[in-house]
Amino acid sequence: MSFPKNFYWGGATAANQLEGGWKEGGKGISCSDICTGGSAVKSKRITPVLEEGTFYPSHEAIDHYHRFREDIALFAEMGFKMYRFSIAWTRIFPNGDEAEPNEEGLKFYEEVIEECRKYGIEPMITISHYEVPFGLTKKWNSWTDRRQIDCFLNYCRVIFTRCKGKVKYWLTFNELNSATTPMGGFLNQGILNEIKAMDFTAQEDNPQNRFQGLHHQFLASALAVKLAHEIDPEYQVGCMQIMATSYGLTCRPEDQLANQQKNHVMNWFCSDVQCRGKYPGYIWRYFGENHIRIHMEPQDEQILAGGPVDFYTCSYYMSICETADPEAQSGKGNLIGGVPNPYLKASDWGWQIDPEGLRYSLNEIWDRYQKPIFVVENGLGARDVIDEDGKVRDEYRIDYLRQHIIQMHEAVLDGVDLRGYTPWGCIDLVSASTGEMAKRYGFIFVERYDDGTGDFSRRRKESFFWYKDVIAANGENLLHG
Ligand code: BG6
Repeated sequence: MSFPKNFYWGGATAANQLEGGWKEGGKGISCSDICTGGSAVKSKRITPVLEEGTFYPSHEAIDHYHRFREDIALFAEMGFKMYRFSIAWTRIFPNGDEAEPNEEGLKFYEEVIEECRKYGIEPMITISHYEVPFGLTKKWNSWTDRRQIDCFLNYCRVIFTRCKGKVKYWLTFNELNSATTPMGGFLNQGILNEIKAMDFTAQEDNPQNRFQGLHHQFLASALAVKLAHEIDPEYQVGCMQIMATSYGLTCRPEDQLANQQKNHVMNWFCSDVQCRGKYPGYIWRYFGENHIRIHMEPQDEQILAGGPVDFYTCSYYMSICETADPEAQSGKGNLIGGVPNPYLKASDWGWQIDPEGLRYSLNEIWDRYQKPIFVVENGLGARDVIDEDGKVRDEYRIDYLRQHIIQMHEAVLDGVDLRGYTPWGCIDLVSASTGEMAKRYGFIFVERYDDGTGDFSRRRKESFFWYKDVIAANGENLLHG
């Protein structure tokens, strides 16, 4: 009664948050490259024209581009069985729409994959993780335009062909359902309704654009799954969602109904389309009530039906509550809305911590889709300090991870087909929502700070040694200890 024998323990990162080298190797500019640094109290800014003297964290990030060998060696030392990372689309197609790929970009990822394989680490690759080529945003406002599907598929064809026999697991879009919220419009989809400088948290929202963009991404995902299977029948392609389970704030039927509607749109809509190959009934009412009209071509239903994903993955950081009471205070600091849960504590960034919610969510996902599941992000963003003796004592992170792993194990006992766990930011990297380094998730501390100082040196935290033991014991040490 333990974790499955070949359980994939590992860690996860994304190119724009750790690579740096933003202009090296022929790389083009992505949407994340035009975002400034920010913090928990001061929003990062989107600046379509780069400002002289302004700090852009993705430009150097943690310099993984030059240090990937050292980093992967550290992952191997912890005993990783899987490493989830993303390919920067702009390293392969700098503007997003070129006919021919950039060879130097392809070589870089080939080396990363080889390095993983050297240690027996299975790569899981996210094809698009929060960094649409900015060239496509300027050209036709990114995913609002159907022509972007062809650019994406061209990119997929190149990497699927090049990685044949070297990679098995692919994810199409990171946290696709973030695009059901205003935050995802630029972050996930690269949609800028006006090409002008603005705070990340004060973007002009256009739900019509976001949901039309999602339709194009659903088609792109389905076609990518089909293409992957044609190129290599061994390929397995998954979806990736933010799973932020929502509970009704009270047992009032109105709250329960409001909660069901919240879950439908936020947590289930995208995965229903990607796992089942068709739009769910409830979304048409939501579209009608919100004046959203999706333009579909006659062949679209067939395209969606032809490419359901092979497995389901999600990030899990928090749960939320929903209420029908308009007076209820909004959940400040909680990225995706909802109201605070009085029974839970929150991280320093206001994300409510709910390990049991992970067990609950995994059961819900398994009941709904009956597809293998990976938890490909989870973790605690915290302010770490280096003590005088050089150690980073992050027992709060160990505590967070321990509780979540125990609940994952409960889900396995419940019968959930859980295949792997890759906690987020296994090495400190730039925060996606705030653009800061101060929000650290890693097992490995990186000497890089928000004022741009630091020599990028790496240091093992206490959690590094703890996670190494967890992996070596296949989690057993937490279950009986
Ligand atoms: C997920 C993203 O939303 O959560 C990552 O896929 C992100 O890119 C992670 O970094 C943690 O969020 P944040 O805002 O704390 O970096």
